[in-house]
Parts: sequence; structure tokens; C-alpha cells
Amino acid sequence: MKADDCSSAFFVLLCERIMKRIGVFTSGGDAPGMNACVRAVVRTALYHKLEVVGIKRGYQGMIDNEFIELNSRSVANIIQMGGTVLKTARCEAFRTVEGRARAAANLKSQGIEALVCIGGNGSYTGALKLYQEHKIPTIGLPGTIDNDLFGTDFTIGYDTAINTAVDAIDKIRDTADSHNRVFLVEVMGRDAGFIGMAVGISGGAEGIFIPEDRGEMSRIIEHFKRTGRRSKAFSIIVVSEGDEEGGAKAVEKKLKEEFTDINVRTTILGHIQRGGSPTAKDRVLASQLGYNAVLALLEGYTSKAVGIQGGNVVLTDFEEAIGKSKKVNPDLIRMAEILSY
Ligand code: F6P
Repeated sequence: MKADDCSSAFFVLLCERIMKRIGVFTSGGDAPGMNACVRAVVRTALYHKLEVVGIKRGYQGMIDNEFIELNSRSVANIIQMGGTVLKTARCEAFRTVEGRARAAANLKSQGIEALVCIGGNGSYTGALKLYQEHKIPTIGLPGTIDNDLFGTDFTIGYDTAINTAVDAIDKIRDTADSHNRVFLVEVMGRDAGFIGMAVGISGGAEGIFIPEDRGEMSRIIEHFKRTGRRSKAFSIIVVSEGDEEGGAKAVEKKLKEEFTDINVRTTILGHIQRGGSPTAKDRVLASQLGYNAVLALLEGYTSKAVGIQGGNVVLTDFEEAIGKSKKVNPDLIRMAEILSY
């Protein structure tokens, strides 16, 4: 981003004159902080004399003509809210050429010239196709609790989700301790273990099952055999839903097969992790990303995702953001193992 450069400021001025109206939408799984992001997009756009249209239910609303005019007041008092006031959807119809053509026609009839999309990989893929087929430019913003998007250190909603999960683990600890039980806690993360790793470390777990780290089952069995921890003291084990074992229930079954004396319970945290008021960290991140998305559009960029890396705002091509995967830091995996003994 060169938003502070003289040449860039001149370009923004020029684009302010050319671009008149943009759309904003949330897509895929909701994430706490999406509302703070919508607010930042709307207010930055208004500051730059752009009109803003909210598109309800993501790509589905684009196809079904669900548009609402947004002004500064429309986004008042939403920064602290979880979920998304624009609603969201996972839209099958937008995967088809016909669906995208219908959406493009609707956008054009609304006078929408460019878009800001808050979502994940699937949402970026849809936006890229929309540009390739209908030349409607989009800037993408990473909104998913999974934190699994390439091109940004953190995604909107991740910080809130891990804090929610850790809060739950702290409560589970009390009952686990009282009964000397082993508790398996399943957290979200379909393809990646960012949530699992962060929650496992900060929840003081004895085992952490994540998709990126193989062989945790045999490690935990060995650990229980060696230490006898399964019956004498309590244990917390965090399992990512996307782990190779197939989730916490599958791990429970294997533990029971291995140890007849084990007193084990499983808690699946599920969608609780997706809700709630965003943390301050998520609100700041969402605001920063939303603000920079509008600047990127005004600077003439398209098909790029805005992210934050090492504290700096960076733009990543959609193709790269979609095609590459971000990996859990292997040093953390090693550290978590050592700290669990
Ligand atoms: O992508 C975010 C996520 O919360 C994943 O962690 C989870 O697997 C998935 O969404 C659940 O999606 P849905 O709410 O559509 O069932």
C-alpha cells in the first residue's frame, strides 16, 4: 500500500472523481469483528465521497437483489456486535456462470462499480471469477475465525474465537479437576490448527491434536501409560475438528479402547466459538482492514486481499491468497509438546 505517497494521494483524488458507488458484503461463515469491518468500510468510503450499498447475505443477496443504502448512522452502534448485520450465506448458485451473470447484472443495475468482500477463501474465489467474467473489481478482507488465510498474520474473528474457547476450557478445568477426569475439548478449524494450537497452549492442555501435526494419538497414549495421568489427576486435551483422527469423539473412542480405567468426557465447543462481542484486538484489526480496503479500491487495485503482516498492511493477489496455505508455526508445536509434560 502506498496510501501516504504523494502520487498515491493524487490517484485517490482522481479515483474519488471516477468511482461513485461501491458495495460491501460479508460471505461464508460469520466471524466476530465483521461488523466493525463493515463500519470502517462505510465510513472510509463516505469520507472519500463514495456512496455505499450493503449487500445482504453475501453472494446470495447479490443474486436475489437484496441491497440497502448505507450511511454513517446505519453503522452506528455495531462495532461491539458479534455476527454480521449484513447477514451471510454459503451460496451454491454463485458457483455457476449463470448465477454470477445474474449477480453482475443486479450490481450494474444498482450502479455498483466495485466491491469490498469480507470472507474467506471461497469468497475470494467468487470475487475473482466475478472480475474475470464481468470486470467488477473487488478487494477482499480476511473474515474467518479459522485464521487459515494466506497473506495475513491474523484474520478477523480469530482472536475472539480463541478467547471464547479458552474461557470455556478454564471452566471445564474446574469440573475435570474435581472428578479427576480426562476432558477432550473439540475446537473449530476445518482445515487448519491455528485455533487448536492457540487454545491448547493458553488452556494448558496436555495434548493438542491439529491437522498439521501427525502422530498425536500415539504420543498421548504413551504419555498416559508413562505417567498414569488418566486416573490420578485431570487432563485437558484439545482436538481440532479437522485433525486426522476425525475429531474429539474419535479420540475418545480410541482412548477407551486403549485404557479400561479411563474416566473421559468430551465437550464439543462448536458454534459458540463463532459468536460473541469481538475483542479489542479484533475490532482494531477489522477497522484497519476495512479502512485500507477502500483506499486500495481508490488506488485502482482489484482482486487483492488486504492483510496485516508484521504490523504492516499488505496486499496479496487473490490467486496467491487462494492457492497458498498458511501453516501453524512448527516452533509452537514443539514448544507445546515440551510444556505439556
Ligand atoms: O470456516 C469457519 C468455520 O467456523 C469452520 O471452523 C467450521 O468447520 C465451519 O466454519 C462450520 O461451518 P457451518 O457454520 O457452515 O457449519
